[in-house]
Amino acid sequence: MSLDLVLRGGMVALPWGLERTDVGVSDGRIVSIGTVTEPAAREVDCRHLHVLPGLIDTQVHFREPGLEHKEDLATGTAGAALGGVTAIFEMPNTNPNTDTAERLADKVRRGREKAHVDFAFFVGATTGNADTLGRLERLPGCAGVKIFMGSSTGTLLVAEDDAIEAVLRNGHRRVAVHCEDEKRLIERRSLAAVGEPKTHPVWRDDVTAIRATERLLALAHRTGRPVHVLHVTTEEEAARLATEKRVATMEVTPQHLLLSGPECYERLGTRAQMNPPIREKRHTDALWRAVRAGVVDVIGSDHAPHTNEEKDRVYPASPSGLPGVQTTVPLMLDAVHRGLMPLMRLVDLLAHGPQRIYGLSRKGRIATGWDADFTLVDLAAERTIEASWIASRCGWTPFDGTRVTGWPVRTIVRGQDAMIDGALQKIAAEPVRFYGTRDEEAA
Ligand code: DOR
Repeated sequence: MSLDLVLRGGMVALPWGLERTDVGVSDGRIVSIGTVTEPAAREVDCRHLHVLPGLIDTQVHFREPGLEHKEDLATGTAGAALGGVTAIFEMPNTNPNTDTAERLADKVRRGREKAHVDFAFFVGATTGNADTLGRLERLPGCAGVKIFMGSSTGTLLVAEDDAIEAVLRNGHRRVAVHCEDEKRLIERRSLAAVGEPKTHPVWRDDVTAIRATERLLALAHRTGRPVHVLHVTTEEEAARLATEKRVATMEVTPQHLLLSGPECYERLGTRAQMNPPIREKRHTDALWRAVRAGVVDVIGSDHAPHTNEEKDRVYPASPSGLPGVQTTVPLMLDAVHRGLMPLMRLVDLLAHGPQRIYGLSRKGRIATGWDADFTLVDLAAERTIEASWIASRCGWTPFDGTRVTGWPVRTIVRGQDAMIDGALQKIAAEPVRFYGTRDEEAA
């Protein structure tokens, strides 16, 4: 078989560990792992690089349709490609919400037209669409169902146990959940002090998150439905979820690992404001322990862009959310450099973990037959993250000025270069395939 592409001589992150070898690609798939002697149409010298499976961001908000002044699928996925991310799963709180088959199909169409990396979309659960979700979750390009148990950006909300149970009883795939207890959010609203973003984690306190996660776990047991707790923020939830692996997986975000209060609120003001909030060091330390103990399944950025003008509003009129899709890989490579976790743990959190918990049928592993998605990284590169590098329409990052060691230098999606040395390339993007979705319609 003639090869389209060979990645030559890199340190390759195979599912069973790091090995210096060649990887051969044909027709968008990995066809050989091991020394390649024949020439290929394209060769990439990887001798000074690590070849990672394409890294996947399983939680982003790209705002299209309806909120394109913050972001759209082109700018959001440009940030992904520049940041070494080969596929993204996008959240349903757009305008309109992604809560019907037509709206999902519309996003898939838009993704094919303009995305710079492969994509999948969550459908939003509402109090009115539970009985349709078992069908929706099997549609091409669907990452699964998302529940907001507490109000955040947008109008999606399923707050009551019986409504959540109805959602969990319809369908089979893992359901991704934003765990904040709506009743407690309403009761404590007055604790958000005008002009004081540091009161954000006082209003939306640790009990608000823990209570919702406990309720969700009880409902997951009652219904037998697997759930995924998004952006876990507390020591207590991390400890509890370690005992619940049969029913629940968990995500942490780079910002909850790398920022903590009160310092981040003093330095960044509303640019540290997100839901659930960034909390004090006790929680940050516990999240790192959970990463190192293997309890955390995935890192997702929760990329949630809002414009500078919106963020300049006086708290709490300022919207919650931080951009992150472009900075996750550099920040986590730097964490590897600082000895906070080994490189293979990063690969587990951003490729093997997404593959395992969401049932990706072709992505997330470097193995023969799988999609030729790669993130090529230079572990020795020293760079500074700057707002001017950010492709997101929001144009800012809470990590502006952060010096890192380790940088993604090439992003490859099914054999196509999406980014080379910081330069964006145009590719033909496709919906991600999952076990249990009707992939043939996505082909
Ligand atoms: O801070 C947040 N922003 N948390 C969410 O749950 C939603 C997100 C957004 O879409 O802005």
